[in-house]
Amino acid sequence: MITEIGNFLEEPEELFVVYNPFLEVIAKNQKTMSILPRPNGILIAAACNNWGIGLNGELPWKLKRDLAYFERVTKRVLVDKEEINNKDKSDNDKIRNAVIMGRLTWESIPKKYQPLKGRLNIIISNSMKNDDNSNKGGYLIYPSLEKAIQDLEIDSQIFRIFIIGGSKIYEEAINSLSCKYILLTKIYKEFKCDRFFPQIDENVYKLVDHLELEKFVGEIVPQGKQLDGDIEYEFLMYKRIL
Ligand SMILES: NC(=O)c1ccc[n+]([C@@H]2O[C@H](COP(=O)([O-])OP(=O)(O)OC[C@H]3O[C@@H](n4cnc5c(N)ncnc54)[C@H](OP(=O)(O)O)[C@@H]3O)[C@@H](O)[C@H]2O)c1
Repeated sequence: MITEIGNFLEEPEELFVVYNPFLEVIAKNQKTMSILPRPNGILIAAACNNWGIGLNGELPWKLKRDLAYFERVTKRVLVDKEEINNKDKSDNDKIRNAVIMGRLTWESIPKKYQPLKGRLNIIISNSMKNDDNSNKGGYLIYPSLEKAIQDLEIDSQIFRIFIIGGSKIYEEAINSLSCKYILLTKIYKEFKCDRFFPQIDENVYKLVDHLELEKFVGEIVPQGKQLDGDIEYEFLMYKRIL
């Protein structure tokens, strides 16, 4: 199903640096958008009723609108309007988000769509090494999630760090203090799965209201349960409180 992400990648790319007037409206009392949090790590996942996320190396469902949301949100870089005016535009163009994934999630992406465009792709693996292929392919391999996050946090050209799966990576990330948010597409249907999202401890992560989700992702997000074919789903966001 990651193929579907690829399909969206064939569409014209949106600019990395987005000044979204919608944010100005919701942040009207704020001096600039720079006070929006710059989080360390954000888990982004779609999980069904039984908390499944994958089957046989693929997504168990087809949800085009969720894949489009995934692509927009993981590509979007929100930059302060004043910063855009003051800085050389070429500096802003260099800022992008990182997507961190486990080796099997990487392998589930069809080769022609590797790496995911417009984002720094990082693969966590002990069996792959940085070599000519990774240099030419424009992706990086790290032996641990922690080390990858540490390096990205001090990289001034990285805006947000998205942890995009699969189950092992989510498991480690959800328990890491570096991970502050979970963007979850909750699918209200049960699917046969062999990979699962870890339990969200509601003492640690609190469900935020819809406006906060919209402000965070920088777009108007359909609120409440949505229908795609016979699948009901909802865009949610949790925020670490401990
Ligand atoms: N629903 C969703 O949102 C979503 C998102 C992403 C993926 N998926 C699905 O999830 C499945 C793939 O996920 P998966 O759980 O099977 O595998 P995965 O987490 O993507 O990859 C596992 C591999 O990553 C490396 N790895 C993981 N944790 C590591 C660590 N702490 N340190 C070093 N290396 C680590 C290891 O690679 P080496 O063996 O090379 O060391 C390990 O074998 C697919 O079905 C995919 O479609 C679903």
